Amino acid sequence: MKSNSFTRSENAFSLPTRLRRNRRTPAIRRMVQETELNAADLVAPLFLVEGHHIAEPIHSMPGICRYSLDLAFSKIERWHERGVQSVALFPAIDSSLRNPTGDEASNPDGLIPRAIRSIKVRFPTLCIISDVALDPYTSHGHDGIVNERGEIVNDATIEHLIQMALVQAEAGVDFIAPSDMMDGRVKALRTALDEHQFEQTGILAYSAKYASALYGPFRDALQVNLQFGDKKTYQMDPANGREALLEARLDEQEGADILMVKPALFYLDIISKLRQQTHLPIAAYHVSGEYAMVMAAAAAGYLDANKVFHEALLSIKRAGADLIFTYAIDALLDRM
Ligand code: PBG
Repeated sequence: MKSNSFTRSENAFSLPTRLRRNRRTPAIRRMVQETELNAADLVAPLFLVEGHHIAEPIHSMPGICRYSLDLAFSKIERWHERGVQSVALFPAIDSSLRNPTGDEASNPDGLIPRAIRSIKVRFPTLCIISDVALDPYTSHGHDGIVNERGEIVNDATIEHLIQMALVQAEAGVDFIAPSDMMDGRVKALRTALDEHQFEQTGILAYSAKYASALYGPFRDALQVNLQFGDKKTYQMDPANGREALLEARLDEQEGADILMVKPALFYLDIISKLRQQTHLPIAAYHVSGEYAMVMAAAAAGYLDANKVFHEALLSIKRAGADLIFTYAIDALLDRM
């Protein structure tokens, strides 16, 4: 008679669930992986300047430059070849072109409208997103029109944002992205776009944009210096969560196509709650300060930037974001 070769192990006890079985090999881990980052989830922010052959490093954002359009093309080409579908454009405007009302924002021959037109010609399959807010263009650095008492005036600002958006839509942008946090701007922009036959131009609303200390390096990149005060009368208080859901609901009702939460990592609870509230796509902005912190720690030898970025972006996606604006795009593409 054949003897039974199965012997009972001395120390193993019976456990119906051993979750480590699903972590045992790379193949199994890959098979049960819940969240996956794809190049197509990423939006590459791009800082643009006038001129030719310009790549100016940004001190507080190691690895990131302001590019003239000719050099921006080669960055875009590499990203798009590797599966990135979208760029978000930000202009570093010469200070001689800035004034209190940010009029350069609606110059049809300004840097951004020209960039949109030429990127569209070169990369017809790429999705172009452009910011709608006055801060790169105002001499005081606020996102809107300032009155004699130093207040940011809501409705007057919206008039300017409409002109700015129409110029960008005319240039062929796919999504305008109001980042100004004025009340009612999504409805006003949607109405104006529709009235001018730009019904196919989308609105990616910065719905829950917090008055965060993490935007410092971005302002460095655009050389925006707030001349007075802060942005707390229009951007949200980091202490508030329910208010973000109200902002997002209003933007959705007013006709936004995509809702954004910004910054990302400190606000994963907001992304997660918004995921329960809306069926629209959610964008998250992994902002300049989030990038700079990791790069600084990596430069000191404290951690591996590429691994941290990958983990950060996975967690943003796991929280419920569909697309993520991030400066860490090259590091992430290297790990995909
Ligand atoms: C402009 C704008 C800002 C950012 C995106 N659009 C700065 C601000 O509101 O002060 C910040 C992005 C980043 O920090 O990466 N309104």
